[in-house]
Amino acid sequence: MSNGPANVSRETTSRVPGMLDSGPFETDEFSRTPFGNISASETPIAAEAQRASQVLSGTNAQIPRPHEQRIITIANQKGGVGKTTTAVNLAAALAIQGMRVLVIDLDPQGNASTALGIEHHSGIPSSYELLIGECAVSDTIQQSPHNERLLCIPATIDLAGAEIELVSMVAREGRLKAAIQEANLAGYDIDYVMIDCPPSLGLLTVNALVAAKEVLIPIQCEYYALEGVGQLLRNIGLVQAHLNPELHVSTVVLTMYDGRTKLADQVAEEVRSHFGEAVLRAVIPRSVKVSEAPGYGMTVLDYDPGSRGAMSYLDAGREIAARTSARQTASAPASDAQSGM
Ligand SMILES: Nc1ncnc2c1ncn2[C@@H]1O[C@H](COP(=O)(O)OP(=O)(O)OP(=O)(O)O)[C@@H](O)[C@H]1O
Ligand SMILES: [Mg+2]
Repeated sequence: MSNGPANVSRETTSRVPGMLDSGPFETDEFSRTPFGNISASETPIAAEAQRASQVLSGTNAQIPRPHEQRIITIANQKGGVGKTTTAVNLAAALAIQGMRVLVIDLDPQGNASTALGIEHHSGIPSSYELLIGECAVSDTIQQSPHNERLLCIPATIDLAGAEIELVSMVAREGRLKAAIQEANLAGYDIDYVMIDCPPSLGLLTVNALVAAKEVLIPIQCEYYALEGVGQLLRNIGLVQAHLNPELHVSTVVLTMYDGRTKLADQVAEEVRSHFGEAVLRAVIPRSVKVSEAPGYGMTVLDYDPGSRGAMSYLDAGREIAARTSARQTASAPASDAQSGM
């Protein structure tokens, strides 16, 4: 998946098309900071510091709570396209803006748990015990050390055996759905559930697709971006037809966008022509800060709140919150795309 030197991870300063305006700077507020004698537009570092202080002080507009809990599965069987990065950063972006969010890590790699700073060594009650019915939600749920509104059911390496163990179990495709049904999550007052899938279309991903109403597909702005998406859409169609009629592709997110390459624009155009309105206007830039954050057990919202990566996930969160989860949002474009792949 290489695209030569142009794709080396580097923080770029070019503006990302589709990145929403984070709103005007509060001049008064800025003048009280140590950077107050510098115009925010004069230096990018001052502007970034100002954005960070706005994010941290919660002066970002709060977003409306959804009418009903939204369960969103983040899936793409292609590896390394930004599923986990999108799951944890979107979750953090929504939590910072007032939502209560649960991330369910359904990938034995446990990357989402790591990025949220959640303990997930073997033996910790996790999504594995939840799936095989050994534990209840309340035994497995942990709170992020960075945000009290951000919760996580971690994945441990034990989950690696689950694909095989599940095969012989009763109602094997609906085990996650049964485990997280509303009654079991009742005391937590959760607005959004984000399920991070492994890079495969096996039983773990099927469980996630059965448990959710919405699918979010992250697509990397790279060569072969749409490779395998047709297969994913066919699987979503099968789950919809046989197991979960409410399932639909509500959201597509373009990730790792590098504004310096023509390729990124070409991919973005192609994805928009396939998925139409489902594609968020907010585009996630390729950014060193985004890739560094999990190494510190943090989302980019905590690691560098003023960075472009953080801003783009805040924008994406706002856009998702503003959309209804109405079925028509994407089911038509998804099936159009299906026919073309
Ligand atoms: N916007 C970004 N800028 C720079 N690096 C990124 C960005 N998004 C993701 N990455 C990096 O790309 C790699 C793959 O991302 P991620 O783990 O989110 O993908 P994934 O689809 O969950 O992978 P897998 O299929 O293995 O689960 C990671 O090293 C991550 O830090
Ligand atoms: Mg992942």
